[in-house]
Amino acid sequence: MTYRVGIIGYPLRHSISPTFQQAAFRHRSLDVVYETWETPAESLKRLLAWMRATPEAWGANVTVPHKEAVFEAVDRLDPTAAAVGAVNTVVARDGRLSGYNTDVGGFLRALSHAARFDPAGARVLLLGAGGAARAVVVALAQTGAAHVTIANRTLARAEIVAELANSHGLAAQSIPLDGQALRETGSTWDFIVNTTSIGMRHSAAENESPLAASLIPSGALVYDLVYNPPITPLLEAALAAGARTLSGLSMLVYQGAESFTLWTEMEAPVEEMMTAARQALEDA
Ligand code: ATR
Repeated sequence: MTYRVGIIGYPLRHSISPTFQQAAFRHRSLDVVYETWETPAESLKRLLAWMRATPEAWGANVTVPHKEAVFEAVDRLDPTAAAVGAVNTVVARDGRLSGYNTDVGGFLRALSHAARFDPAGARVLLLGAGGAARAVVVALAQTGAAHVTIANRTLARAEIVAELANSHGLAAQSIPLDGQALRETGSTWDFIVNTTSIGMRHSAAENESPLAASLIPSGALVYDLVYNPPITPLLEAALAAGARTLSGLSMLVYQGAESFTLWTEMEAPVEEMMTAARQALEDA
């Protein structure tokens, strides 16, 4: 029997997960196809019911805009997914769906393996307040970061993420995402993380940076979760400011590696996945 895993999202034109996950299954000689399950909101319940009823369906990745809806719909939640309030990985077994969030572990593994950075004691600036920001806050709380400033276009959403941080013992403040508000904090950040889609190829804010170079301390590490292009306008600003940079491809691959292990109970071939992901980006 050929097993099936898919990515659930809408739209999915630009996803590179199918390429690097398929490379991993191939490398481990597993008879699994990784498919693109492009799903509008009104079809999500039907897709999940199909997964429960289909023995060859092993599970799925979940991406924008379904991470919160799948969180509500699964039969069992892993504690990390419960803490984040979003599911990015589903495992289907015996007619039941279990929800996980591998963004937290993916973020932390990328930080330690790709940047050798430990957020313990760090003062952090977090840009954005969506599902990815929630995963980053849970990860930062786990590592003992000292403080996080959450800056978002919609202030009310930043406030909700600040409450999440506080509930995990991480001191937080929320501000609007604009230069003046950022300057008024008077803060010097050790670590800056962008979880907004600003700067993403094919998006409305392509070619824009969420932060001017003048606001980036030279001693900071700037981590852009946007992975296409590999050097985003934010990372260009960070380089101009003399800061260290990390591209989002690392987190994408590490969260995918953790998902692979959940489906297969095998160690993920991270190097092969990284090579396939880089190649897929070049071809995109
Ligand atoms: P994800 O699950 O990837 O975090 P999301 O929940 O859609 O996706 O969140 C996207 C984030 O990018 C939000 O913080 C959003 O700001 P709002 O909360 O104000 O919507 C931010 N974002 C997207 N496009 C933006 C833009 N052009 N300017 C500023 N912020 C933007």
